[in-house]
Amino acid sequence: MAATACDPAFEDTATAMTDHPSPRLPEPLTASRPRAPLAGKIRVPGDKSISHRALMLGSLAVGRTEITGLLEGEDVLATAAALNALGATAAPAGDGRWTVDGIGIGGLAEPEDLLDLGNSGTAARLLLGILATHPITAFVTGDASLRSRPMNRIVDPLSRIGARFTTREGGRLPLAVSGAVNPLPISYRLPVPSAQVKSAVLLAGLNTPGTTMVIEPQPTRDHTERMLRHFGATVASEPIDGGGKRIAVEGFPELVAAPISVPGDPSSAAFALVAALIVPGSEVTIEGVGINPLRTGLLECLREMGADITLLNEREEGGEPVADLCARAGTLTGADIPAERAPRMIDEYPILAVAAACARGRTVMRGLAELRVKESDRLAAIAGGLDSCGVRVAVEGDTLIVEGANWPEGGALIQTQLDHRIAMAFLVLGLAARDPVRIDDGAPIATSFPGFIGLINRLGGAIAEVR
Ligand code: S3P
Repeated sequence: MAATACDPAFEDTATAMTDHPSPRLPEPLTASRPRAPLAGKIRVPGDKSISHRALMLGSLAVGRTEITGLLEGEDVLATAAALNALGATAAPAGDGRWTVDGIGIGGLAEPEDLLDLGNSGTAARLLLGILATHPITAFVTGDASLRSRPMNRIVDPLSRIGARFTTREGGRLPLAVSGAVNPLPISYRLPVPSAQVKSAVLLAGLNTPGTTMVIEPQPTRDHTERMLRHFGATVASEPIDGGGKRIAVEGFPELVAAPISVPGDPSSAAFALVAALIVPGSEVTIEGVGINPLRTGLLECLREMGADITLLNEREEGGEPVADLCARAGTLTGADIPAERAPRMIDEYPILAVAAACARGRTVMRGLAELRVKESDRLAAIAGGLDSCGVRVAVEGDTLIVEGANWPEGGALIQTQLDHRIAMAFLVLGLAARDPVRIDDGAPIATSFPGFIGLINRLGGAIAEVR
């Protein structure tokens, strides 16, 4: 079914590239202890990482890709709008179903206007990887959060391939990219464990002759590799000494449109999961959640802390492992979380810190340097927020130490700094704290988890707008 103008997602997509959005008002929210335990069965929206990739690879494939379960959050809609501005056709067909009419590798056309990628680091970095080997010029920007985030981590390898960039001071957006006319294959060792950087280089390798290689000392999420294979590309991935991987993509594959079913996002499920664990007496099932082993670090940590979580109905959907997660509340105890686990749960530290605040004893989380360059400086945001909620917390270098308070005081106003995960984590804390927790702005939640408040409240939560 074609997109219609009555479809709200179509309207968002269509206008995002043409109008400069007017500044929106902050949406303050408050969360308090519910009267009864949380209970019920829910589904969370589609995986953000997989949704971005489905739209991007669909655009580079030949033919029509049909996607089910796409996350219709602002980040992914920004990717869809950018791809449409580059000549592909990504359109909603209702209920999370989307079609993408691809134009083939190398087929993207120069966009007439700025590409505005909103809050999304994944959209910006992966798309710049693709643009790096298209001989066109594009201008890329984002919101205040994205404009403050480092882009040199992709500018460096993509420049070696032959792309030219003009960036703001410190490699920040807005930037201009002119893709390489004669791209060179590179072998690139990741200086930081980042799936976005790995993916940017691999995607650039698609329109490059020969073999483009990425060496990752610590494995990061492998959705790009899995989906490239799903579309028919040749991608080799082999272990290297020390636990890392060497990944090689062959240039000029013919990507053939293929159906994609997007699993529920484990990084979104994490908020409902921890809410169920810390609100006494709760029992919640979250159906259809992705359990790719490179995303399940949080489950390991919570189980080490004594959480009662059962995986039911494990299966494979569209090349990704999926399960239903059942969580029951109980006493959590502090744990020592090793740095090696960080890439497999990098987005889950805000909510893990909330679980740690409600646990008995000390939780030590190591190797968190990358948290400083997320949608906000998450290390500072977590520590500051917990401290204002009466939790004893310390940051030592890139280690976060939380002294579990069992029942944190709460009663604070949290500055969310355009960071959806800080917003959701502190709302979940408010469900267990003695006094309600307020956040200054819940609007960024729509970037990754539209419907979050309704879903938590349907389970029995108590999140409300502040008027
Ligand atoms: C993502 C990778 C991670 C993660 C982000 C999504 C991806 O970022 O934090 O939310 O889809 O590749 P880094 O690659 O910067 O670690």
